[in-house]
Amino acid sequence: MRALSALAAVAVLLGVVYLGAGVAGLEFWFGVVIPYAAIVVFLLGVVFKVLRWASAPVPYRITTTCGQAQSLPWIKANRLESPPSGVWVVGRMALEVLLFRSLFRNTKVSLTPGRRVVHEADKLLWVGALLFHYSFLVIFLRHLRFFVEPTPVVIAWLDRLDSLFQVAVPTLFLTDVVIVAALLYLLVRRLLDPLVRYISLAADYFALFLLLGVALSGIWMRYFTKVDLVSAKELALGLVTLNPIVPEGIGWLFYAHVFLVSVLFSYFPFSKLVHMGGVFLSPTRNLANDNRARRHVNPQDPEVEVHTYQQWEDEFRDKLEAAGLPLDTE
Ligand code: HEM
Repeated sequence: MRALSALAAVAVLLGVVYLGAGVAGLEFWFGVVIPYAAIVVFLLGVVFKVLRWASAPVPYRITTTCGQAQSLPWIKANRLESPPSGVWVVGRMALEVLLFRSLFRNTKVSLTPGRRVVHEADKLLWVGALLFHYSFLVIFLRHLRFFVEPTPVVIAWLDRLDSLFQVAVPTLFLTDVVIVAALLYLLVRRLLDPLVRYISLAADYFALFLLLGVALSGIWMRYFTKVDLVSAKELALGLVTLNPIVPEGIGWLFYAHVFLVSVLFSYFPFSKLVHMGGVFLSPTRNLANDNRARRHVNPQDPEVEVHTYQQWEDEFRDKLEAAGLPLDTE
């Protein structure tokens, strides 16, 4: 049901753009106004999120570790799992961000026929996630050819590398196949695994369907309806140079692609997708675990007025003396 409602939401989005750009001729809205609005929402949303994260007090080191911290010289430390300093944090973060290292340790639980609980390594999610994220990144970078004139050499190389096998005309991009396969795997995994299905929300499915919508509409344009690339580039360049124009006859599918991307961008800061920025600001990952090596004083501690025993003794010294009570200081 949750998956169906997410699918319905994406179908409604497609219906809106079909009626708007395809039937009612609102190309300027779908090609200019909505993409600009999406970028503004994206930027403001991300800034707001980062400010909120940054203003959360983190007085102490709350690093999550899974290895021996640096201790006595004869105890072997695991500096990547429990980084003792900033340099090791950078190494740990790089492995996390570039290779999803914590996901590599993913396990799944199952019951054997003899009803024994078994934990086993499950690398498939790690592979699926890596494939999805890297193909998305390559596709994103390749799209720079629409937004920059002339196309940077690096992007042209990336284009050539991605169409290495030169299958079909226009040449098939490997990342197009990989991104769809990876997204379908991530979707099927949620639907078929009863434990994952139980914890999946409509928002989890929505992100997957939306990304599939973006990828499939792009693929459809490239391999089947053959969008007019000159017009598409004219529109894209108009957007980045703040001289928006809407060329004639690009076709509603192009606007559908751009509209789904706009929805993705405006949805990004308020959804789980914002983990892309959050991973860098996560205090359980980006702090060195030096709690035992260094004394950390909470910088947010308010000034507290104290009245020490010594002050109290000085204040009542004569009375204490008169009563014959012992004093700490003369
Ligand atoms: C998150 C952003 C985006 C993603 C993930 C994405 C994804 C894709 C994919 C998978 C394709 C299939 C062909 C290929 O891989 O190049 C494609 C094609 C295309 N996309 Fe995007 N897209 C994005 C943003 C945009 C934007 C903002 C535009 C606006 C100009 C755009 C315009 C196009 C066009 C014109 C094609 C057809 C390319 C061709 O025929 O070679 N895309 N997109």
